Amino acid sequence: MTLSGSARIPGDKSLTHRALYLAAMAPGRSELRGALTSLDARSTAAAVRRLGVDVTRLREGEAVSVRGGRWRRPEAPIHCGNSGTTVRLGMGLLAAHRFEVTLTGDASLRRRPMRRVADPLIAMGASLTLPDRDGLPLTIRGGRLRPLIWELPVSSAQLKGAVLLAGMAAGVAVRVREPAGRSRDHTERMLRAFGYQVTDEPDGWIGFEPTGRLAPFQTDIPGDISSAAFLLGAATLATAGELRLLDVGVNPTRTGVLTVLARMGGRVAIENRREVVGEPVADLVVRPASLRATTVRSAEVPGLIDEIPMLAVLAARAEGTTVFEEVGELRVKESDRLALIAGNLRALGVDAAAVGNTLHVTGTDRPPAGRVITAGDHRIAMAFAVLGRVRGAKVRVDDLACASVSFPGFSDTLRSIAMSR
Ligand code: S3P
Repeated sequence: MTLSGSARIPGDKSLTHRALYLAAMAPGRSELRGALTSLDARSTAAAVRRLGVDVTRLREGEAVSVRGGRWRRPEAPIHCGNSGTTVRLGMGLLAAHRFEVTLTGDASLRRRPMRRVADPLIAMGASLTLPDRDGLPLTIRGGRLRPLIWELPVSSAQLKGAVLLAGMAAGVAVRVREPAGRSRDHTERMLRAFGYQVTDEPDGWIGFEPTGRLAPFQTDIPGDISSAAFLLGAATLATAGELRLLDVGVNPTRTGVLTVLARMGGRVAIENRREVVGEPVADLVVRPASLRATTVRSAEVPGLIDEIPMLAVLAARAEGTTVFEEVGELRVKESDRLALIAGNLRALGVDAAAVGNTLHVTGTDRPPAGRVITAGDHRIAMAFAVLGRVRGAKVRVDDLACASVSFPGFSDTLRSIAMSR
């Protein structure tokens, strides 16, 4: 397969959720250009509409206009679809609102851990009820919150973001600590842009002081490096060509995939670096490469958590055994990604195993053949669709439509840059 041309990647999912939520709280009209229009982004837009905020429809190529202000109690439970970020960041903001709301989601989201978010919010003074098994539906009644000092059980941007946003919405100081490795820092950057003091200490503590004030804003959202990763993967596995990915967010807490790919022998050039509204952005130029195995250390994992499905697929084409250490968080993503990555690779004839929380993948140059089970997980679907394009592959992905959770038009984009030989 030859890959060539250039592609613009859909807007960053993490930034879109955060910008929608902050715009929904800022009193007045905000405008988001380049926002993601996928199902997950629509879940956050729908959630804030339920809370009384006017948001225009999310349409590709159109700016989103949000008229934010005081939130009001929704009449029915808020359905967050497949989107963990909608629920968890929403919990943080709702913890400072004095009305009761029930949050629920699809079957995958209802199974995901929410107690880790609820615990610090309860310690701040919010009242939350969750199912005994954890997950959704949950009911939250916010209130006057107290300052908080909290050690997070895992490095998670959704968890950290929820606590920081609760501090912001309630006007109280919070300090949280991430155990190992730093998760994405988009919430911190956005809060700083509104004059809030957010400190980032070398021992993992992040401090927030309620020194700022939300105001309506205009922003540009760059392409999502987590979506770009699938095209990076496809171009790396191609036999010839060169692919240029335009306007991709390269925040250093998100570029672990580039570091690991470079270690494996990948050929990605970062060009035209610039800063757009407080976030680093660049074009990525990718060329085909022969890959070798590597070890991904546990401290690197939060910085590439969403890219492990793609990196595991690349490891399946690399020489040697790649090891992903301490990737247990993958078990509580949109699916049990750890089990699905290992199981699907084996189903295609690749030697792969999850041993405890560590994933081992031994590369081969035999063409992959077999059926892939996605369990409706967008990133599993896209990663294996890329593997299905290598020469001689006979791979059937059971559900590629779920890619629209984060990457609208994924199949068309892949097709438009790929020329079979
Ligand atoms: C996200 C954080 C990540 C990631 C998710 C989006 C965010 O989860 O998996 O797709 O926008 O905060 P963690 O909470 O594990 O960092």
